[in-house]
Amino acid sequence: MSEAPPASTPSSYLGPARVFSGMQPTGGLHLGNYLGALVKFVRLQDTQDCIYCVVDLHAITADANPATLAQQTREVAAAYIAAGVDPKKSVIFVQSAVLAHTELAWIFNCVARMGWLERMTQFKDKAGKHAERSSVGLFDYPVLQAADILAYKATHVPVGEDQKQHLELSRDIAQKFNNDFAAPGFFPLPEPLIQGPGARIMSLRDGKKKMSKSDPSDASRINLTDDADAIAQKLKRATTDPHPLPETVEGLEGRPEVENLIGIYAALANVDAAAVLAEWGGKGFGAFKPALADLAVARLAPIAGEMRRLTADPAALDAILRDGADRANAIAAPIMDDVRRIVGFWR
Ligand code: TRP
Repeated sequence: MSEAPPASTPSSYLGPARVFSGMQPTGGLHLGNYLGALVKFVRLQDTQDCIYCVVDLHAITADANPATLAQQTREVAAAYIAAGVDPKKSVIFVQSAVLAHTELAWIFNCVARMGWLERMTQFKDKAGKHAERSSVGLFDYPVLQAADILAYKATHVPVGEDQKQHLELSRDIAQKFNNDFAAPGFFPLPEPLIQGPGARIMSLRDGKKKMSKSDPSDASRINLTDDADAIAQKLKRATTDPHPLPETVEGLEGRPEVENLIGIYAALANVDAAAVLAEWGGKGFGAFKPALADLAVARLAPIAGEMRRLTADPAALDAILRDGADRANAIAAPIMDDVRRIVGFWR
């Protein structure tokens, strides 16, 4: 049996609150990423110190694509900025540009236990039946994620529901480090900020599947790079049923595709599902879908345009990312100095 995680005790961390999150540069950002993550990143920066990372080290755990990695890294950075993350307020940077991530990941490799990682459901899902042929990096992915967060002593991490287990692992690693090295309260125990159910965006073809870049049907998702026509077409062709929209939220029960479209409308209009149904209940999809399409185009077309503008000038984008890496490094460097001292390395 593997060593059990240390019993959870309240964190004695006294440092400031700090937000950290990251997205992989694996291409194909879509409406689910926008409403589920980016909108939240933007909202948090008004009240919190935020660090947003493009996690290219994580991207090579599955397949390496050296010809496209840098381009896709810039595309995610452009999406952050186009969605409204302000590089003056928030730190936006690329993971591989700050060496603290890999250094701390190694130290955490020696803190985390095999048994903890063996329980990670995302690895089991991704590796499937071929765990022995997947990279060690894929197995180790959540340890690197813990290092991402804790290299900055981040306290809050906006992520999707699927990352909850990785955040628990981050807390276990932080706590075991603090215990093993007799450094109580050195690392915070980071808390996930899980998005509300309204922000869980499902496939336009199947209301029981998450909207995903890996769905073979492009009609199942709205890509952040889709033009106005494509956005409108996909929403008008989205799967529904022949009944009118329900009058109440309870009426969405058993109608996942309808619930999804209402959820998308509500998220785009910044209202709740009840408000959407108060307006649209009893009406047909023939009227609702064009209104939804107009709303989506109004909100997303400017983002697509801004992404195109930003990626067309890679030098300007790289200057932002270099500044972000310098600022990230300035935060991580003194923390890593402390880590080296606490671990007892020659300095
Ligand atoms: N694993 C996260 C995801 O797939 C991405 C990620 C990597 C991340 N490092 C992180 C998210 C640190 C939050 C904090 O969504």
